[in-house]
Amino acid sequence: MKYAIGAIIGIALFAWLFSVCSPAGKNKTGHEYMPDMYHAVSYEANLLTNYSWNHWDDESSFPKASLSQPRGKVAGTIARGYTGVHYTDATALDVVRGKNAANAIAAPVNGEVPFYYENTPEDRIRCEKEIPTNPFPQTQEGLDRAKPLYNIYCGICHGEKGDGQGWLAANPDTKYPAQPKNLLDADLVAAGDGRIYFAMMYGLNVMGGYADKLSYEERWQVIHYIRSLQGGAKK
Ligand code: HEC
Repeated sequence: MKYAIGAIIGIALFAWLFSVCSPAGKNKTGHEYMPDMYHAVSYEANLLTNYSWNHWDDESSFPKASLSQPRGKVAGTIARGYTGVHYTDATALDVVRGKNAANAIAAPVNGEVPFYYENTPEDRIRCEKEIPTNPFPQTQEGLDRAKPLYNIYCGICHGEKGDGQGWLAANPDTKYPAQPKNLLDADLVAAGDGRIYFAMMYGLNVMGGYADKLSYEERWQVIHYIRSLQGGAKK
């Protein structure tokens, strides 16, 4: 009898132990084996989660929410060695890239380029007018680099073909609130490159900006790639 009770308690305990480690469900986070390993007590960049043991907000004068968002560089500064150029032929670009004998020191042709436009409808139009062309020459190498960037950052909404039928927009299981712009539309084909660049810097309505996700050159290479999609669609 003693053994039987012991066994029942033993089995019950065992079962209870397993139930404690319940897996996550639809609206349930499940139980964590070592909570602090998943939910950091310190604050983490680009991550804002509610965790009761995180007392950052009580102890710091900077709220966690503001610290977890991507931040820009200090106003008026540029990263060392970074330069921006507006060249239309590839040989001039090679000089800056250190590919000729006269100047063998390469500078990254990327990054710290000022953008003198506010996020207003007037500046959106001004940007399109004032930046009609791409500062980088179109090269196959650049298109190859831009393709995965486009597919990751833009294609999910605008579609890998640029037709506005990306996975988030066209999948019946997703509920994306707005129709992403068809990048093959005639008005965008005719638009200056500055319009697409502006959209990447600030986004538009529900579309967020990509200034902190794509570097200066990457943004322009993605624009070349979008132009190549438009060209392909128009044959
Ligand atoms: C999460 C979905 C989403 C992603 C990702 C996204 N967009 Fe958009 N985009 C939209 C939506 C929605 C609109 C339409 C906004 C409106 O008209 O209100 C739009 C509009 C645009 C426009 C039109 C702007 C104009 O002036 O009419 C351009 C250009 C554009 N996106 C480019 C891009 C590029 C380039 C990327 C990748 C770096 C990108 N988008 C990523 C959803 C997205």
